[in-house]
Amino acid sequence: MTLGSVELASILISDLVGSTGLEARVGPVRADELRRDHFGLLREAIDTCEGREVKNTGDGLMVAFTSSSSAVECSVRMQRLIERHNRSTDEQLHVRIGIAAGEATVEGDDYFGMPSIEAARLCDAAPSDGILASSAAKLMASRHEGVSFDSMGMLELKGLPEPMEAFAVSWEPLDPEDVVRGATLPPILRSVPPVAYVGRMAEKERLTAVSREVRKGRRRIVFVSGEPGVGKTRLAARTALEAHSDGFTICWGAAAEDLGAPYGPWIQAISHYVEHAPDEVLTAHVERHRGELARLLRRGSLAKRVADVPEPQQADPETERYLLFEAVAGLVQAASDHGPVLLVLDDLHWADTQTLSLLKHVAASTADSALLVLAIYRESDLDRGHPLCDALAHLHRLDGVERRTLQGLGVDEVAEVVAAVAGLEMNAVGVELTREVARETDGNPFFVGEILRHLTESGAISQGPDGQWELRSSIADLGLPHGLREVVCRRVERLGADVQQVLTVAAVVGRAFDVELLELIVEQDEEQLLDALDRALHASVLVESPQRAGRFNFAHALINHALYDAIGATRRSRLHRRVAEALERLCSNDAGARLVDAFLEDTAGSAGGSAALLAYHSREAGDAKRAVDYLVQAADSAELAGARSEALALFNQAVELIPEDDAERRRDVALKRAVTYARYFHTLGGEGSDLSVAQRARRGGDSGHTRQH
Ligand SMILES: Nc1ncnc2c1ncn2[C@@H]1O[C@H](COP(=O)(O)OP(=O)(O)O)[C@@H](O)[C@H]1O
Ligand SMILES: [Mg+2]
Repeated sequence: MTLGSVELASILISDLVGSTGLEARVGPVRADELRRDHFGLLREAIDTCEGREVKNTGDGLMVAFTSSSSAVECSVRMQRLIERHNRSTDEQLHVRIGIAAGEATVEGDDYFGMPSIEAARLCDAAPSDGILASSAAKLMASRHEGVSFDSMGMLELKGLPEPMEAFAVSWEPLDPEDVVRGATLPPILRSVPPVAYVGRMAEKERLTAVSREVRKGRRRIVFVSGEPGVGKTRLAARTALEAHSDGFTICWGAAAEDLGAPYGPWIQAISHYVEHAPDEVLTAHVERHRGELARLLRRGSLAKRVADVPEPQQADPETERYLLFEAVAGLVQAASDHGPVLLVLDDLHWADTQTLSLLKHVAASTADSALLVLAIYRESDLDRGHPLCDALAHLHRLDGVERRTLQGLGVDEVAEVVAAVAGLEMNAVGVELTREVARETDGNPFFVGEILRHLTESGAISQGPDGQWELRSSIADLGLPHGLREVVCRRVERLGADVQQVLTVAAVVGRAFDVELLELIVEQDEEQLLDALDRALHASVLVESPQRAGRFNFAHALINHALYDAIGATRRSRLHRRVAEALERLCSNDAGARLVDAFLEDTAGSAGGSAALLAYHSREAGDAKRAVDYLVQAADSAELAGARSEALALFNQAVELIPEDDAERRRDVALKRAVTYARYFHTLGGEGSDLSVAQRARRGGDSGHTRQH
């Protein structure tokens, strides 16, 4: 090889998902160990595939191959080894990989030119656990047996002048007989941060006992409640990972705030299951329930798995609803006939009434199934009249239903968190610090984590050369923030004014947001924006979404709430206006509209689609007129999609928002609403049910878009 020679090469680039901020989450010692484990697995794959490690990017490797087949084979091996590693540990590793091929310039030990650039961009665009290959790499490797490529269409990749076609490389786990079919983990569990899990022994023992019952074919429902940040989701995630390694199939759905779309959590849970379920389960289901499930699924996703799916049956809304409920219950039953199932329904305090009705139906018809439901909610958000109160009372009358309330961690458990973050046994300073932190936080683990990060970032505590905690001043002088909001705001402030600006805008968008949308709102160029987001990732204020590159989530809903609450009323409504305008701009072109649709689907978005989202932001911006227009649009599309009671709820909201003096508009919208009512009642065909439908519609209208903190 000579200096600057040109060579035909295949380049593989890998990236450890969620590595940004690893230190902030598990402490430097554990972060190092995890990185080392991950490199060990990658190198094991390289050794068997004759790749040459070109460089280490800190979070991944760049590897050169003389053949594309070897590069693809190596990427599959990497994913398989990591998947196998994950089966036996709570500390999950996930990588994404990009592969490109072409003429590279070799200088010294490094490879330059298109293949390196393309591989890096493909890697950035790949999902967690995914492999993306360029068309050249595919062309040269496709003769290789046992590997299949799925076209992802033309992708616009950052930094490349033109869109390029990319192919997803599919891979199967090693020793598939050890892996339960259909048991692929839902995305949320592929992004659980590898923070040492502590405590909760009583809950753990109880859940283990309950799982044992479930295995014997006794359906159990455990309601888990507690204040925000107390560790409900984490307990469920931990339970799910353990259950998964015991052969449970995991289904997971969470209700989203603001966009209380009908069936949101079910849509998430069922979509993932249908994607990965054994063929025979789905085929049998379609024979029995036709295409009823398609009402809940992304278009075509059932047809992708089963041939000749019939359309869902057209009938009056009540019958349609019943058929849908039966189809979901049937699916859950069939899944649990195949092996035990854990269904997690998170954040039910934000769930719509339909989700809860469906839960009641499934609970009633699965008494003898190997099904464990973990239903999670915040008690503090339940005022009387909240639809969940009804559902709770109803479900408690069934057998096999219990409730657990999570309290804060005890001092000893807080000590474990402190020790885990430091990666060491504790000295006297650590013990004193623990006591103070536990007192200040009541053992709320979210609060504990934030306070520790705050103290480290501000230099109030540090680790000496031996790794032990050292204090800058006495504990009494540390000035611990009082309350969650204060600690969150102080941490964000410290990240700098530009980061604070970006995060404030993002908090107005919601817990999840796409970079493309932010770019249209903040006055920063792309580089600055990405840099700001990177800093927030490092500080574990944000996490990357496992679903899509370029999407971020606030690490906890408490963070976006704290930031949102800190915005003054005038500024808040201005920001909502800017979000609405940016959304309008996105929706005005094809690529942008697709992005918004995908966002709504991934976040279990609303019945009225992007119009409902636009209505929400317009209303919060104080632009009632525009909000009404969008609500009507959302109602129309909800009706078109057959969600008639949602359409009524949206019309109700619209009518309530129309200013008193605009009699004409009020008449117009009320008329549309009346037509929908009439259609609804006509198909219902009986006076008896009119009242309940009207009440339901009205209730939906009242509880529609209220932000709860
Ligand atoms: N038992 C635990 N051990 C370690 N960290 C925990 C534990 N429970 C919660 N956490 C951490 O505390 C934060 C808040 O927990 P989370 O489960 O999201 O709260 P909730 O769902 O109750 O609002 C998360 O960062 C989580 O990883
Ligand atoms: Mg939670």
